[in-house]
Amino acid sequence: MPVVEQATQVLRANDRGGYTVPTDGLYPFQWNWDSAFAALGFAAFDTNRAWQEVETLLEAQWPNGMVPHIVFHQDDPTYFPGPLVWQANQGPKPSSGITQPPVAATIIRQLASTDARRSDGLLPKLDAWHRWFHSARDPDGLGVMAITHPWESGRDNLPDWDQPTAAVDTSMIGDYTRRDTSLIDPSTRPNKEQYDRYLALVQLGVELEWDPAAIARDSPFFVADVGMTAVLLRAERDLLVMVQESPRATDVDAAVIAQRIANLEHGFERLWNPAVAAYCSLDLRTGRWASTASSGSFLAWYAGVKTHHQELLAELSRYVDAATFAVPSFDPEHPLFNHVLYWRGPVWAVMNWMIAVGLRDADETDWYQRIRSDTMTLIETSGFAEYFSPIDAQPCGGTTFTWTAAIWLAFNADP
Ligand code: DGY
Repeated sequence: MPVVEQATQVLRANDRGGYTVPTDGLYPFQWNWDSAFAALGFAAFDTNRAWQEVETLLEAQWPNGMVPHIVFHQDDPTYFPGPLVWQANQGPKPSSGITQPPVAATIIRQLASTDARRSDGLLPKLDAWHRWFHSARDPDGLGVMAITHPWESGRDNLPDWDQPTAAVDTSMIGDYTRRDTSLIDPSTRPNKEQYDRYLALVQLGVELEWDPAAIARDSPFFVADVGMTAVLLRAERDLLVMVQESPRATDVDAAVIAQRIANLEHGFERLWNPAVAAYCSLDLRTGRWASTASSGSFLAWYAGVKTHHQELLAELSRYVDAATFAVPSFDPEHPLFNHVLYWRGPVWAVMNWMIAVGLRDADETDWYQRIRSDTMTLIETSGFAEYFSPIDAQPCGGTTFTWTAAIWLAFNADP
């Protein structure tokens, strides 16, 4: 069957009616950034369904503006931790208590030309979500976005979080049963020590009633994430364009968005780590940098930041030269690199799409083509896996992944 039909079939099969699961089994609910990427995929063949995907996601927005990272549309005991563990009942639907990188505005901007009224209806929601980021995840106005849980970054077990999570007390978590490791190969999933910390941070959120101010004050884990900051900066720019182009978006203040953009542009430079010559995550509790760059560092172009263009290109070349397929999620020459272990080395199609789009916007079309071609080759060789080895193209994690299919469709539509 032609790949375009296979990709379409993956999205259709993971469609649960108004929202799409990342994959059947492992992730049985609606995940925030997975869902935005699903919309990008649906846009290639069913625009109405693409709109529905982002509308359903934003319907789960909390009154304080946060859009949760998981929306538990129905009960499903096959996933852990479910809504009873999160106890985050502040939104219109059962959900988790944290967010995820806000790619939605960028993808909605791509859809906007197909239905201006539908996009207008979402602008106030996007604006409220972005505003929430600045107050909840940057209470000191540094212009960098903190994550309060590794899951919030979407790049769960990235080595950037090893040191900061070491400060998390796991003595009170009690017994629990993971579901993920009975569904797929445990050697491609976060380990027990990491999972204990993930759960301890969920328990802390519950204790603090998911109050962002209390979490920002009391959580031992509060790390400025280069990936989150870049994605938000890009999303703010796309939101601003949509607001400026919409005569009906009178309830969203373009000048305020422009101020937020200026603040993020300024803040992003705080993440430049001269010792590594790359933008790096920064532990806001200790002031310690992540030990090296990661694929999140290469989102600077996606964010429209070109300050260190040549130095970052040199770092990207180093990554790519040390692997076979662009772009490893973690430094392939670092001792912690593992080519099949989740966010500690493998290639993720969604990261590749954002990096490639950013490079094309920065007029680096050869780089766009290299990353586009590697991503499509990986998928065509190894299927719609969750992620791939950058060394031997091995498919890893779950199979028939929505966002992998979506990115193939997006690249296919965008030569
Ligand atoms: C998981 O369950 O592993 C997810 O990544 C949490 O978002």
